[in-house]
Amino acid sequence: MPSKFLPKVKDALGLVKEGEIVSANEAFLRLFHLESLPITLGELFEDHFEDFGLFETRAKRPDGSMFEAEVVLLPYREGLYQLLVRDVSERRATEKMWLKAERLTAMGKLAGEIAHEINNPLGGILLYANLLREDLPVESPLLSHVDKIIKLATRCRIIAKALLNFGHPEDSLEEWVNVNQVLQEMFSLIEDHRLFREVQIIWELEKDLPFVQGNRSQLEQLVLNLIINAGEAMQGRGSLSFRTKFDPAEEEIILEIEDTGPGIPSEIQDKIFDPFFTTKPGGKGTGLGLAICHGIVKRHRGQIEFESRPGRTLFRVKLPKIHLENE
Ligand SMILES: Nc1ncnc2c1ncn2[C@@H]1O[C@H](COP(=O)(O)OP(=O)(O)O)[C@@H](O)[C@H]1O
Ligand SMILES: [Mg+2]
Repeated sequence: MPSKFLPKVKDALGLVKEGEIVSANEAFLRLFHLESLPITLGELFEDHFEDFGLFETRAKRPDGSMFEAEVVLLPYREGLYQLLVRDVSERRATEKMWLKAERLTAMGKLAGEIAHEINNPLGGILLYANLLREDLPVESPLLSHVDKIIKLATRCRIIAKALLNFGHPEDSLEEWVNVNQVLQEMFSLIEDHRLFREVQIIWELEKDLPFVQGNRSQLEQLVLNLIINAGEAMQGRGSLSFRTKFDPAEEEIILEIEDTGPGIPSEIQDKIFDPFFTTKPGGKGTGLGLAICHGIVKRHRGQIEFESRPGRTLFRVKLPKIHLENE
């Protein structure tokens, strides 16, 4: 069936006559999982092509699977059109990911700058509120108002500090870090907190995990944010797993933190890495934890991803292994 009219190229090529593909090369049949021709354009593409030109559309296979396609349709001879189709799904997905990463980076930078600007006046507010508090007689009814000012301003300070942490691209990324150790140390810092006291902890750490190169305190912060999120999601019940492994093919260290909390509803999964996005009520969350994690992982040339369904949420961080000269 491959046509002698079609040049031998790797791209999927077909010949179209009156809206039907009457002939195609191997690549075309393979791309669409087709066994026989003819087949109509309408059966293969979501859009209808009025004319010739370059189109972007979604292509569908007879088995129901779809892909993002770039289509070139050109007049060939009397009544015949030449059709070239490329699967650009992967390219589109990568573009989308980059866009998102860029947006998050820009937002992070802005957030850092704003934080810097408000950090100093906030310090002043706290200082004067504290002075006022000291000067007020203990029985003064105004004392509780001043306490509120201090409490709220302190909270702003915490947020500003978290925002400032976005930045620091100048931090050294030269340290050799043992991810297993970071996990164990960070967990030991908070294991006595009521959120974790009743939670079952499962350790599955790879023994001879290679080091990663980076900034230890940033990696600590990353791990801590993920552990706290897991703890907050589980509300003191369930099990929390810490896993590390090495992927020799990709030369990556993989760190997983999995909880048995309620999961992340699909309608918010797109937003959880956005700065200030939080579902935690009453000012409990800043919505900065995961945005900071994202920045840290990116700075370490790694990836962060998650899988979630009711009863199970897993955050996975992949970091490149350190390369030693004598290897
Ligand atoms: N392990 C988890 N389980 C369920 N939801 C989570 C988990 N981790 C993060 N989330 C969701 O992502 C949101 C953003 O997290 P984060 O950026 O750390 O901000 P915060 O913890 O201050 O809300 C949380 O409010 C929560 O809705
Ligand atoms: Mg958080």
